[in-house]
Amino acid sequence: MDRRHAMKLIALGAATLPLAPQRVFALAGAAAAPAAAPAAAPPAPSGPFTLPALGYAFDALEPHFDAQTMQIHHDKHHAAYVNNLNKAVAGRAEVAGWTIEQLLRDLGKVPEDIRTAVRNHGGGHHNHSLFWTSLKKGGPAAPTGTFAEALAKTFGSVEGFQSKFDAAAAAVFGSGWAWLAADSTGALKVLSTPNQDSPLTQGLAPLLGLDVWEHAYYLKFQNRRAEYVTAFHSVVDWDVVAERHAAATKG
Ligand SMILES: [Fe+2]
Repeated sequence: MDRRHAMKLIALGAATLPLAPQRVFALAGAAAAPAAAPAAAPPAPSGPFTLPALGYAFDALEPHFDAQTMQIHHDKHHAAYVNNLNKAVAGRAEVAGWTIEQLLRDLGKVPEDIRTAVRNHGGGHHNHSLFWTSLKKGGPAAPTGTFAEALAKTFGSVEGFQSKFDAAAAAVFGSGWAWLAADSTGALKVLSTPNQDSPLTQGLAPLLGLDVWEHAYYLKFQNRRAEYVTAFHSVVDWDVVAERHAAATKG
């Protein structure tokens, strides 16, 4: 498949999300990105949830993750999850004031008629928010300190963890996520979830997630998911993952 065809597929995927994003947000460093739209004043939020800034330039993770995918992924896909989540909870006093984490942890208490929308779009919002903040070019190449020891205790070695995580990412059939997560005691676990399901709904704290929806990698890697997974390991911010583990262990 050539690049033009791949672009069409990515664009189609964004366009067929249930609600086309109405808001394009100015991002930190966006001016340096090759395809950045002119920054405009962000419109007033249309609900309680907002698209977080990416926090770095679209091309910050090159050559591992390409700028065009990062821009489409954040500005179109993630924005659509936020907009659809806001639509789902609009006017619903039962969940007014709930955080995104509350919605996903207590999904069974969300009114049944909006539960699927909250599961899909709320999960999409939280998963992507976690994803962007897990990435950093030039971060530590591997976990260190007590967190590295915890990984080794559970998986035999850091390499043992990576092997299990990569296998989970490869085994996702269709769209979903591979995760490193922790339970309330800090015990580590590798798992995958379908679609936009969150480990929070299973009572787990997500520490590191890899988006293996095709929209996350098809433009650069096409069907070569394994290469995308390998590239991911070059941009993980292990300091952030270790901080999340410490927070999960403290409860
Ligand atoms: Fe995604």
